[in-house]
Amino acid sequence: MISQAVLEKNRGSSMIRQMFEQGQVLRQQYGADNVYDFSLGNPDLPVSARLTDALIASAREARHGYMNNAGYPELRALIAGREQRRSGRPVTSQGVVMTVGAAGALNIILKSICNPGDEIIILKPYFSEYLRYCENSGAQAVPVDCDPASFLPLTSALEQALSPQTKAIIINNPNNPAGVVYSAAFYEQTAALLEQLQQPVYVISDEPYAQIVYDGTTVPSLLRYFSNGIVAYSWSKSLSIPGERIGYVAVSEDCADYEDLCQALVFCNRSLGFVNAPAIWQQTLLKLGDFKPDLSVYQRRRDLLYHLLTGLGWDCYKPEGAFYLFPRSLEPNDQAFAKAAAEEHILLVPGRGFGMPGHVRLAYCVDEAVIRRAETAFGRLTARYRA
Ligand SMILES: Cc1ncc(COP(=O)(O)O)c(C=O)c1O
Repeated sequence: MISQAVLEKNRGSSMIRQMFEQGQVLRQQYGADNVYDFSLGNPDLPVSARLTDALIASAREARHGYMNNAGYPELRALIAGREQRRSGRPVTSQGVVMTVGAAGALNIILKSICNPGDEIIILKPYFSEYLRYCENSGAQAVPVDCDPASFLPLTSALEQALSPQTKAIIINNPNNPAGVVYSAAFYEQTAALLEQLQQPVYVISDEPYAQIVYDGTTVPSLLRYFSNGIVAYSWSKSLSIPGERIGYVAVSEDCADYEDLCQALVFCNRSLGFVNAPAIWQQTLLKLGDFKPDLSVYQRRRDLLYHLLTGLGWDCYKPEGAFYLFPRSLEPNDQAFAKAAAEEHILLVPGRGFGMPGHVRLAYCVDEAVIRRAETAFGRLTARYRA
């Protein structure tokens, strides 16, 4: 009785769920301390006391009513100010819409801009949900190959992917799963490429990891480099609150069809059933102001896991951001490799789900102790292939 399309798509997208179930079974069998689960991008850092205090204060105020579908004007003004300072472009509260996380942001953006048959360019390796989000808006995702050493898109592949149907490019910065931070030079180069086209192309940056960066790296402001830029941000990762669902979309007044786009974003927030972003989290963010949690622990974990794997001879890019490593699997079949890893109680995600078979993703949202304990298991896994 249910939708055939949903049935089929759901069947095809169960890799991470299978991994999750496999983890449960392994933990029951061998004990939680003997399973090394690097499969989920679920931040494990405790939320700061400041955040909890702001949340409790918001709960006491008991403001639970409906609001403007775009969110509280005072919070939108605060975010607009930040985006304007970062980009040097005019951004006002009209150009900011509070959303149900980055997922909500991306869905309202795509719904707002896509006509049936429009193409959305996504860069390999990509967050696999982009495929679903494009389908939700009747658009076709067009993946672009990258240089496997730097994970930067191949210019020739990007040029080839651009067509009269191209409506937008999604740039996930920093990238999940590779941990690459796309530089200002890449933005400049891409902006020059888009200028040669007949039609305006929106450039969407998906930035839930923008605060998780290493060695002094910064994520360039998308709006600075692209007049048709659309930022999708979320606090899921930086505040360790992915279950709470809070983010925003921001556009500058320089954006093509600015007035219509702003109205469309608000309309889609409502019509897709989000209605508005959670009230209590908007109030909490207003109270937090410019508070930034200490995220340096991720850099220590990155170093630990990166040195562990490269020390064993794995071919692995050193991430500049996010909390994932994306090494080559030790055999070409990444799914078979993930199975072999699970036999050593190591859970990781095959790269094919990100458009790059032959790789695996490891999320280091785990305690440093787990990484240390996993050392012997990684050694055994590696030895299988050396033999
Ligand atoms: C690249 C990327 N985009 C979007 C999301 C969704 O984020 P949110 O939880 O804020 O909806 C995730 C979550 O893992 C992600 O990795």
